[in-house]
Amino acid sequence: MLSPAAIGKAILDHHASLIGADLSVKRVHDAHSLVKNSLDSVAPDLKLYTFGSSTVFGFHEPKSDVDFVALRQEDIVDGKGGDSTSQLAKGLQTQVLAKLAASVRQKNVQWAVEEVRRARVPVVKVKAPHIDFDITAHRRNGVRNSALLRHYLTQVPENRWLSIAIKSWSKRVGMNGPVGGYLTSYGFNILVVYYLLHRRRHEQPEVEQKEGQDGAASASVDGKQQKELTFIDKDTLDVSLIPPIPEYLALEPPNPETLGEQVLDFFDFYLSRFPMESHVISLSHKEPITKQSLNWTKTAEDMKNNTSMEKVFYRLCIEDPYEVNLNVGRNVSPFKFDLMKKHFVKGRATALGLL
Ligand code: GTP
Ligand code: MG
Ligand code: MG
Repeated sequence: MLSPAAIGKAILDHHASLIGADLSVKRVHDAHSLVKNSLDSVAPDLKLYTFGSSTVFGFHEPKSDVDFVALRQEDIVDGKGGDSTSQLAKGLQTQVLAKLAASVRQKNVQWAVEEVRRARVPVVKVKAPHIDFDITAHRRNGVRNSALLRHYLTQVPENRWLSIAIKSWSKRVGMNGPVGGYLTSYGFNILVVYYLLHRRRHEQPEVEQKEGQDGAASASVDGKQQKELTFIDKDTLDVSLIPPIPEYLALEPPNPETLGEQVLDFFDFYLSRFPMESHVISLSHKEPITKQSLNWTKTAEDMKNNTSMEKVFYRLCIEDPYEVNLNVGRNVSPFKFDLMKKHFVKGRATALGLL
């Protein structure tokens, strides 16, 4: 069996380029000014916010895209407001994005600019020479959910490595993607944060809970101290208090053994401790919640799938913190659910496929 230290070392070796590399958010700033320049010529009162991985991790990954959203002053002032999903709201988003896409095309003729109108969230996808970006409009949820994940992952900065490791593994094994995939990076990040919040809950009675010096609870496993996360009320996240461009957060190398232990325990949690059949992975509630309480049941699944074109599954249930009644795991069919468990077993046995 692989030792936690060997697993942690394999992960750090794989991501060696992240340590000591220039991960500054300069690329994000550069892309931001280019998009803002186009936005100013079509809708100068809109403010451009960055979200997604650059915000969550606090650095720019060399190969990752950047997510932008153009917000109206009223969206920012009402920074805790919910996003409308009406056809009217979507129509307005599509209109502003069409103007923006035209301006981006005109100013940067060599870039590939694609408008995706029919998706749940209308988006403009841009491929520029050194960076790809997605632009949406009038929607606060991405800014809020990224800030929520960032707040969680910075409570114990070493935990950022678990998120980096799981996301990169999910891409390597082909589980990450919006359409053919099982979950997006966002979905995997929620799995990571939920695990960190609840890992002591469904488990061994011999774990002692202690109050850490700084107030954060710590738990002792095999005599080692691991800092626990503090629950954050997701409703407190307010766009008017979130910076439009993320602040850079230097990435320190973690203790390899702790990282290896976390990876093993992440898989153990989802493979055997978390009651996947009956419960929902959710950052919205402090206490565990059931599928039944959200009416995310087999009956609801059958009813939806008889009446709608887009199939929705309630096997892997991940409650979106800000969208209404949205399962982030909705694409995970029973078949994919079984395959996903197999990937988890293999990921555990092979140090995320690295050993
Ligand atoms: P990479 O782009 O893969 O490097 O990581 P990322 O952290 O940017 O994640 P991702 O592109 O998956 O998500 C960026 C943002 O898109 C998230 O903050 C969400 O707002 C949104 N998003 C992505 N996937 C989903 C999803 O399945 N459901 C919902 N509601 N939003 C999603
Ligand atoms: Mg992204
Ligand atoms: Mg994106």
